[in-house]
Amino acid sequence: MKSFFKYLVLIAMAGLMACQRNAHFNVASPDDKIVVTLGEENGRVYYEVFHDSKPVVLQSFLGFTLKATDNLEDNFYLKDVSYAEVNKTWEQQWGEERFVDEVYNEMKVLVEEKSGDKRQFYITFRLFNDGFGFRYEFPEQANLKKFTIMDEQTEFVLNGNHTAWSIPYDIEAYEGLYRQMPISELDTVCSPLTMKTADGLYLAIHEANLTDYAAMNLYPTGDSTLKVYLTPWSSGEKVFMKAPHQTPWRTMIIADNAGDLLLSRLMLNLNEPCQLEDTSWIKPGRYIGIWWGMHMKHYTWHEGPQHGATTENTMRYMDFAAEHGFSGVLVEGWNKGWDDWQHFSFTEPYADFDLKAVTEYGATKGVKLIGHHETGGNVNNYEAQLDDAFNLYHQHGVSVVKTGYVGTLLNGNEMHSGQYAVRHYRHVIEKAARSQIMIDNHEPVMPTGLQRTFPNLMTQEGVRGQEWNAWAGDGGNPPNHTTIIPFTRGLAGPMDFTPGIFNFDNPEMPQTRVQTTLAKQLALSVILYSPLQMAADMIENYQNNPEPFEFIKACPVNWAQTVVPEAEIGEYVTIARKDRDSDNWFVGSITNEHQRELVLPLDFLEPNTRYMAQVFKDAEETDYLSNPYELIEEELEVNAHTVLKIGLAPGGGTAIILTKIE
Ligand code: NOJ
Repeated sequence: MKSFFKYLVLIAMAGLMACQRNAHFNVASPDDKIVVTLGEENGRVYYEVFHDSKPVVLQSFLGFTLKATDNLEDNFYLKDVSYAEVNKTWEQQWGEERFVDEVYNEMKVLVEEKSGDKRQFYITFRLFNDGFGFRYEFPEQANLKKFTIMDEQTEFVLNGNHTAWSIPYDIEAYEGLYRQMPISELDTVCSPLTMKTADGLYLAIHEANLTDYAAMNLYPTGDSTLKVYLTPWSSGEKVFMKAPHQTPWRTMIIADNAGDLLLSRLMLNLNEPCQLEDTSWIKPGRYIGIWWGMHMKHYTWHEGPQHGATTENTMRYMDFAAEHGFSGVLVEGWNKGWDDWQHFSFTEPYADFDLKAVTEYGATKGVKLIGHHETGGNVNNYEAQLDDAFNLYHQHGVSVVKTGYVGTLLNGNEMHSGQYAVRHYRHVIEKAARSQIMIDNHEPVMPTGLQRTFPNLMTQEGVRGQEWNAWAGDGGNPPNHTTIIPFTRGLAGPMDFTPGIFNFDNPEMPQTRVQTTLAKQLALSVILYSPLQMAADMIENYQNNPEPFEFIKACPVNWAQTVVPEAEIGEYVTIARKDRDSDNWFVGSITNEHQRELVLPLDFLEPNTRYMAQVFKDAEETDYLSNPYELIEEELEVNAHTVLKIGLAPGGGTAIILTKIE
């Protein structure tokens, strides 16, 4: 590889020396399958991407429109280039696998204005075997200090009008159903944007390491061209920059099949290594909570006769958690402010909730209270109380806080994905880390892999989760929803979807219901990765269904390895994961509204080893519409040569525990 780079450098340098114009530089992925060219034409900088020698991204221009000064756009030349190769493996404290290979070739090109202020920036590309990322880096310099970005002009000129899965960028809290349509018909959509080409290639555009910048959205400017649209401030500017600084990485996963999208760790690799010195207090876990009861209108968040967050009820949930091995109990509605959802106090409990008593009681049972900070989007109110709020929880041994930002705009004016919001969310993550608190953030900005740097950022919402099945006027999430989100929102990181509902009807809202079979609810615990994962139902519904509940109790949240034996976006997906702490594997397989037969070779198991398979599956007559609860549990001995054949009902699934026989 080294000689290959030298060759490219020599050609490019020869071009540079000749005229310092129209040079271009190339870089290839470690396996040589992906090649990127960065060039300059008429003062404009562009890039192109090839995969297996075929174009994936055609000539796409780069640059910025600035406020009150010349744009960084059409007066540039490529001044210098440097290359680097990285080949290492790092360990994740928690994740879908323990070790992540970080193997890439980097090309860093210095771009300079041809005349005038001679302003400079770098464009750095990193090419992995499963895709690439690039970003703009602004070094410290005399003539570009503070500046305001009105538009980032980055383009992705794709080689065709691919099929795309998307949600609109301005949908509240990213909680929409993904739509499948050609690129040319898109409106402005948020990333990740996942596409399938006519040749059967899968592409996913997203970003990594969103730090003090606005989130990236995309809009079509022709049949196959996407341009970046940054979420604006309420005043119209996109980003207030101060050099030295850099943009987030613009990323594209390139995969031969849908399953490989799920195995790409490109986004994590493009984030900085862990910045926390001590991470021993960060612990993944499965939790229950006084939560679904509110969404089902069985309890209220606010105080009164149906108040859910009482001392007594919390202790009851803690007893249940201890008995069944859950690490935490989330309690929403414990604090004052639920009457107007705007003026929350994060330190004053309601009169019937005794924080000291419940946390001390939990400690005797090895169960933690999971704290809750719903801000109603009033960030000013939250920031003013943040220190006191985290201190209070820390004093009482609370080590996870679920945060929430319900509402269209933060403080009534800023979007959840603008630079203001990005700064706020980061502030909370860093502050929480200082109080040894893990974060489960709801109504976030779209995640971009920051958990590598701040592993206390455990999980986030930013997805149309289970709660929509309790009250959505449109009937809830259709059966194909969970066969799409792993390939779209899921590519941005862990999702607090909250699977595991055992009772599908809401008597208060008869028009809506959980549109799955019971076996599919179990399978979702494997399919939808989250290091803090909820068993979301009320405990009474688990008490009434002890057999399927065994799967939820057994299913880990931290994995040594993940494989995706089969997947098709919107149709089906099967994922097998090996437990981080044992030799056991767990499999989840789900289908959309159509029945199908899962044919699953167990070739991921250790060879020459016997396993007991405990299968939780739909019965022959199971159907998510007419007969959702019927479930069969069976046991059989298997090994790496076994091919399991299991019927999945319409809207159904299967969940399997594979225990090594010693
Ligand atoms: C929306 C969140 O997604 C949900 O989990 C929470 O219960 C409510 N907000 C109240 O904070």
